[in-house]
Amino acid sequence: MEKMPYQPDLDRPMTIAKTGSDVTSDWREALPVLTGSRVMLRELELSDAASLFAMLTPEEVSRFISPPPTTVEGFERFITWACAERAAGQYACYAVVPHGMTTAIGLFQVRQLEPGFATAEWGFAIGSEYWGSGMFIDGARMVVDFAIETLGVRRLEARATVANGRGNGALRKLGAQQEGVLRRSFLKNGVHLDQMLWSILNEEWRQAKAVWGNGVLH
Ligand SMILES: CC(C)(COP(=O)(O)OP(=O)(O)OC[C@H]1O[C@@H](n2cnc3c(N)ncnc32)[C@H](O)[C@@H]1OP(=O)(O)O)[C@@H](O)C(=O)NCCC(=O)NCCS
Repeated sequence: MEKMPYQPDLDRPMTIAKTGSDVTSDWREALPVLTGSRVMLRELELSDAASLFAMLTPEEVSRFISPPPTTVEGFERFITWACAERAAGQYACYAVVPHGMTTAIGLFQVRQLEPGFATAEWGFAIGSEYWGSGMFIDGARMVVDFAIETLGVRRLEARATVANGRGNGALRKLGAQQEGVLRRSFLKNGVHLDQMLWSILNEEWRQAKAVWGNGVLH
């Protein structure tokens, strides 16, 4: 999702409004910790700002996504904003922490596209030294599962710039369905780029999970 992870404008003062959604879970109080085979996913902490700055600002990571904050302080403001949005029940952002480490090497986020999360959009970015390590798929499966089973997402969308080979490859590998091209939908460096639209439906996900959950697909 190219409009995330850094939207909306982080320098703008936040108004926190309850949505009136019927999502019932204490995830609004604090995100549950999710533990996979390679990574742990947990709530963002202010102390993640420096490592996220180091991981997500290099050109190879940020070239296809909205510009990340340009300072550690900017990441601190983003983390504060993310926690407030979670408390408001409209957004969830997970830090990716490899086993054996305490610092975040990336993030996954999910935002509602309508009150109540039935339709939502997700996005992700991790430091390039961890690409191809299996950490993405480990974390991604847990986040999709969290979105569907806890947030109540029925349709989970992702957008990836057509030229983003890894982003599109990662979504395909996860089992997302490619729905089409959103022409000239993403403004990057003054140029409007085409994006692929991907989706995962809750019933498809549950079927797929029954397969890989039994060790058939890794
Ligand atoms: C997107 C991201 C989180 C995926 O993590 P990752 O560790 O690179 O993902 P993986 O290596 O598990 O999967 C990527 C897949 O795309 C494939 N791939 C790589 N380049 C590709 C290309 N040019 N065309 C098609 N597929 C490609 C890889 O081979 C891999 O598939 P495989 O495991 O079957 O070989 C990571 O690349 C990233 O942070 N990128 C920068 C931020 C970003 O673009 N976010 C996505 C916005 S939608």
